[in-house]
Amino acid sequence: MKYNFDEIVGRRGTDCLKYDGMAQFYGSNDNLPMWVADMDFRTPDFIIEALKKRLEHPVLGYFNHTERFRQAIADWVLRRHKWKIDTDWILFSPGVVPALAAIVQAFTEPHDKIIVQPPVYHPFFYVIENQNRTIIENPLKLDGDTYLFDFEDLEKKLHQGAKLLILSNPHNPVGRCWQPEELRQLSELCLKHNCIVVSDEIHSDLMIDGNKHTVTASLSDAISNNTITCMAPSKTFNMAGLSTSEIIVQNEGHRNRINHVLTDGLHIQCGNIFGDIGLIAAYTDGEEWLTQLLDYLTENVKYSIRYIRERIPVLKTFRHEATYLLWVDFSGTGLTHSEIAGKLVREAHLALNDGSIFGRGGEKHFRINLACPKSTVTEALIRLKKTFSKYNP
Ligand SMILES: Cc1ncc(COP(=O)(O)O)c(C=O)c1O
Repeated sequence: MKYNFDEIVGRRGTDCLKYDGMAQFYGSNDNLPMWVADMDFRTPDFIIEALKKRLEHPVLGYFNHTERFRQAIADWVLRRHKWKIDTDWILFSPGVVPALAAIVQAFTEPHDKIIVQPPVYHPFFYVIENQNRTIIENPLKLDGDTYLFDFEDLEKKLHQGAKLLILSNPHNPVGRCWQPEELRQLSELCLKHNCIVVSDEIHSDLMIDGNKHTVTASLSDAISNNTITCMAPSKTFNMAGLSTSEIIVQNEGHRNRINHVLTDGLHIQCGNIFGDIGLIAAYTDGEEWLTQLLDYLTENVKYSIRYIRERIPVLKTFRHEATYLLWVDFSGTGLTHSEIAGKLVREAHLALNDGSIFGRGGEKHFRINLACPKSTVTEALIRLKKTFSKYNP
């Protein structure tokens, strides 16, 4: 079956954050929305059908996560990522960010230190700061157009006694698919310093141009014992509204601590019936659809990078290997950050993510969500060209 990702699906009026919630952040709902990280494509039919089927039964009472739920996850990570896990390593969480918050609670006390690697997904900062823990930054470094881990700085930061490192693998917003050697070096340094790695792998299925994801925990038994993996079908299959994700933890002691917070502390272990049904359908029937999605996203990413290089050279793009989120540097325009932000909204009428939310290194950068029909991507690029090409370097 050939899926049609060119279709424009009207989302306005569905209470979706990306369209209907735009005014709150950009002053009006009339911009082209290329911000929130969900996709403008249909959630695949095999997921919608599975949800409809469940609605044929008239009772929506409490339910249990079944072995089918856990087996679907284990089968998926083995098939897609060559990662063999036991089903009893799996915990449910209603989202990756709630999982990160619970993990912070489980392993740290107020004022304890936690490492993050900016520019990085902004809720990493929130789950630390809002729980009164201390952020330690180990910023990524830039080599030409490639973001890298800064191991020398990491070792210094680990010496300060951090209990956790929250890793974005692959990295949002810079789009790196971390290589096994990079992940091994990071994980071994953390092991040496008794710092647990929390590997947020929510974008792990979204590999561009045939890149291969490496599950951090898959590198060795010792690394697996020191790593907590957070994954979800939400980004991959456009079902974030179902609030369903999985935490995979080999280390039994670590797993029990997280489970205690989720179950006895926050009481969020249950979730909703539709989340499990969606997850099982996605992980069971999703291969063909995902293959076609990745081809489409790869074309959108390559087309955008080519377009920017050739026609808006004042903007800079980076080595992009994963996620549908393109990281773009506007500093060549010579404008200030707020001038760029203002022009994006008021002249280009584009709603992009402001890079400053991702912390250090995000100034004068913006993130563009390319998970939409190519016609929308083209419209966005034309608007960028019209607004910024006059600032030629
Ligand atoms: C790296 C990363 N982690 C987590 C999330 C959100 O996870 P959830 O909606 O499951 O809380 C996102 C969403 O953009 C993300 O990019």
